[in-house]
Amino acid sequence: MLNLEKLRRETPACERILHFNNAGSSLNPWVVSDAVLRHLQREQEIGGYEAAAEAEQAQQLFYTAMGKYLGCAADEIAFAESASRAWTLALFSVPFQAGDEVITFPSEYASNYMSLLHLARQKNLIVKVCPFNESGQVDLIALESMISSKTRVIALTHVASQRGDIQPAAAVGKLAREHSIYYLLDACQSAGQLALDVSTLGCHFLAGTGRKYLRGPRGTGFLYVDAEIVEQLTPSFADLHSAQWLSTESFAWQAGARRFESFERHLAGMIGLGAAVNYANNIGIQHIEKRVQELASDLRDRLSQLDPIQVHERAEECSGIVTFSSSKESAAELKQRLNELGVNVSVSKSENAQLDLAREGVAAVVRASVHYYNSDEEITRFLDLVASV
Ligand SMILES: Cc1ncc(COP(=O)(O)O)c(C=O)c1O
Repeated sequence: MLNLEKLRRETPACERILHFNNAGSSLNPWVVSDAVLRHLQREQEIGGYEAAAEAEQAQQLFYTAMGKYLGCAADEIAFAESASRAWTLALFSVPFQAGDEVITFPSEYASNYMSLLHLARQKNLIVKVCPFNESGQVDLIALESMISSKTRVIALTHVASQRGDIQPAAAVGKLAREHSIYYLLDACQSAGQLALDVSTLGCHFLAGTGRKYLRGPRGTGFLYVDAEIVEQLTPSFADLHSAQWLSTESFAWQAGARRFESFERHLAGMIGLGAAVNYANNIGIQHIEKRVQELASDLRDRLSQLDPIQVHERAEECSGIVTFSSSKESAAELKQRLNELGVNVSVSKSENAQLDLAREGVAAVVRASVHYYNSDEEITRFLDLVASV
């Protein structure tokens, strides 16, 4: 059971704004901003390297808290500057051969898909998009029929940026494992709102960001890499943190996921993200998941009762992301109007969702993304404002 009053007190911005843009970037709780600011202050007071040495424990918390959340070892986690960077680091490390195939889905994030096209051109790969079923979810039979001896990677975005349906990530993982295919999961929108266990999901890689449902600072992300496959991978870059220089002719990669990291990084951000994941672990991810889904489902149900509104989720299992359009206002106009009333939402446009919204002829949708610290009263107020056009 969540103590909503306490959680809202720990999120000072709740008092001033109605924030339904958690899929963009959540409101930070005090404990996160404090951890970041404290570290920046120590850098100012004693120097960057000295502050880093002093903050060894706080840095480790990022790895241990993330490992606890994802059900993996701390050395299977790498810090990255964003989810997109984490995802590309993973994809580009796979030992592809010309003619290999990558299967992806309509939920794939735009930047991931472009990186995939980029790599496909370089390495002569074939990209296949497996359609969703009428519930907007992976069609497992279609997926299995698309798998061939050439399929090297299955890449799935767990919850899309532009639609709140939850994809059956564990069922896809099971298929990938049965066929010995690398499975790359984008958990950018699911991390922080869903319970994620990498063994259950069956993924070899999981990429995420700090600022969204995990409530961490901007400029932070992470990559999980399965220890069982890490030795098969070749990271794109080496530096004095990810590798060891052995002689003028040779170097060796560091053990584990560290080989995907850079020496230089936004250390205050990483410390802040560690604090954020620890905060979520302490609240209990099961409680968070339940609360987010209850709020979102209430919002979705009540929005769909409004005459001009069409809700775009189709699956039984939906996340905190609620997408909708109105016959009375464009998505951009509705967002702008809500913004002026102190309500934060975002807009997803079809040009950034060409495998999804564009194929359905939907130009844009409003995305209202709720988190556990949002209140029932905020849902009601939001609905009133949407209806008051
Ligand atoms: C599903 C999904 N994947 C990846 C990303 C990219 O995250 P980042 O901006 O941290 O690279 C986003 C961002 O909105 C996203 O929604």
